[in-house]
Amino acid sequence: MRYPKAAAVAAATLLLTPVALAEGDPARGEKVYERCEGCHSIERDRIGPRHQGVVGRKAASIAGFAYSPAMKASGLTWDEATLDRFLEGPTKLVPGTRMGFAGVPEERDRADLIAYLKQSGG
Ligand code: HEC
Repeated sequence: MRYPKAAAVAAATLLLTPVALAEGDPARGEKVYERCEGCHSIERDRIGPRHQGVVGRKAASIAGFAYSPAMKASGLTWDEATLDRFLEGPTKLVPGTRMGFAGVPEERDRADLIAYLKQSGG
């Protein structure tokens, strides 16, 4: 198959251009995740819902987990942007959430954490 040259060049440029967003470090994120482990694990529901596949998942979508009405009504889908906002201030993004956690104040910690959650997506 033959591609027009301009398209090939554009594709190559895309591959070579560094990602503009600050990419998190999943290894560091695993350490930050220790702050969540009082309530969460990747594989199973605890006080909070499991995090397997959370990036790309609709909020409140783990069957059988007792979410708050606020989380069920949030209409959110967890992606990098919504997770970043939620983790910065859970009750700011979802007033009435049952997640009793103040938040992760450092932007870099949040980026690393999200990279870790993506990696352990499954
Ligand atoms: C004190 C316990 C607690 C801690 C600590 C905690 N969470 Fe939660 N988390 C919860 C609970 C409970 C819910 C369900 C909230 C609801 O239904 O309103 C939740 C929900 C979530 C959700 C939404 C999941 C879904 O299926 O919609 C995400 C994402 C999340 N937590 C991430 C984190 C991360 C990342 C950390 C660590 C930085 C963390 N949480 C720390 C208790 C906690």
